[in-house]
Amino acid sequence: MHGVTGRMGLNQHLVRSIVAIRKQGGVALDDGDRVMPDPILVGRNREKLRAIADDYGIERISTDLDACLANPEDSVYFDATLTTTRAEHVRRAIAAGKHVYCEKPLATSTTEALELVRLARALGVKHGVVQDKLFLPGVRKLKRLVDSGFFGRILSIRGEFGYWVFEGDWGQPAQRPSWNYRKEEGGGIIVDMFAHWRYVLDHTFGAVRAVQCLGATHIPERVDERGRRYAATADDAAYATFLLRGPSGESDIVAQFNSSWAVRVYRDELLQIQVDGTLGSAVAGLRECRAQQRVNTPRPVWNPDVPNPFDFFADWQEVQDNAEFDNAF
Ligand SMILES: NC(=O)c1ccc[n+]([C@@H]2O[C@H](COP(=O)([O-])OP(=O)(O)OC[C@H]3O[C@@H](n4cnc5c(N)ncnc54)[C@H](O)[C@@H]3O)[C@@H](O)[C@H]2O)c1
Repeated sequence: MHGVTGRMGLNQHLVRSIVAIRKQGGVALDDGDRVMPDPILVGRNREKLRAIADDYGIERISTDLDACLANPEDSVYFDATLTTTRAEHVRRAIAAGKHVYCEKPLATSTTEALELVRLARALGVKHGVVQDKLFLPGVRKLKRLVDSGFFGRILSIRGEFGYWVFEGDWGQPAQRPSWNYRKEEGGGIIVDMFAHWRYVLDHTFGAVRAVQCLGATHIPERVDERGRRYAATADDAAYATFLLRGPSGESDIVAQFNSSWAVRVYRDELLQIQVDGTLGSAVAGLRECRAQQRVNTPRPVWNPDVPNPFDFFADWQEVQDNAEFDNAF
């Protein structure tokens, strides 16, 4: 496991995934056996690795990636290091014959991502990139509505993602790492979020056939973790339109996604996805999902001369959980 001193590597992948699986006694197989993950934590700082290993009852640590890749006993390579280092690490792991599982994005260019998947196929290793947003309760509920035929013909999808990330210059430190705002370090909201939008759209509504996107850098200067000003060279907002292939085979579902770290939230959650279909609509957040059927659709008439007589929020119904939603990672 490489990158476990980082935010995602530690919290989501080590603590909430591998350590949680170890506490549960491993993963049960159909034949009754159990697979117990036995990670070796790899990184650059031995002290940090040792402290984490001790905290979570893990024995093995290493600062030598090549030596780890050379050990045939360790068959899977996991990567949650920085976006800019991922492709190189994954390439080395595949070349060493390891199965690979990693954080998104796999690479910062399509060419490099395709090259890696072709290499993995050529060498016959298994490969996977996290698709955690598919397992958000809100997205699971949308998928349930799609599968039940609730929407009729899906017309369009609208995603609103984002929140204000502080610039760091007036007493509120930024709540995301500064590399996120430097293109040369793998930053940018497009490279960060569009991996998610792609698999959410593909696996929930229909295959993405086309995308157009306007990226913007709204906040040109920020203050980093050490209090130094820096030029933000990466996009902090992206305005995109996707075309998806619907059940008819035509690319006729339109999905629009606004993604921004420079927007103030006036909606229920940091991510909200609305789906409109001929027979019904739904609005999902991270956990909740509300739906409105054709027969419950109000009948507004445009008239700015009188106060709005409708409570548009009243005609929606909660989609039930009807299941336990496990950790998405
Ligand atoms: N799935 C998600 O929802 C999600 C959310 C946030 C971040 N991510 C992805 O996870 C990755 C890590 O993000 P983060 O926020 O945890 O970053 P982070 O800065 O907190 O952690 C980065 C990790 O990489 C290590 N590292 C840095 N430079 C390295 C190098 N040259 N060689 C080896 N290791 C190096 C650091 O020591 C640290 O362990 C990014 O690629 C990001 O896109 C995914």
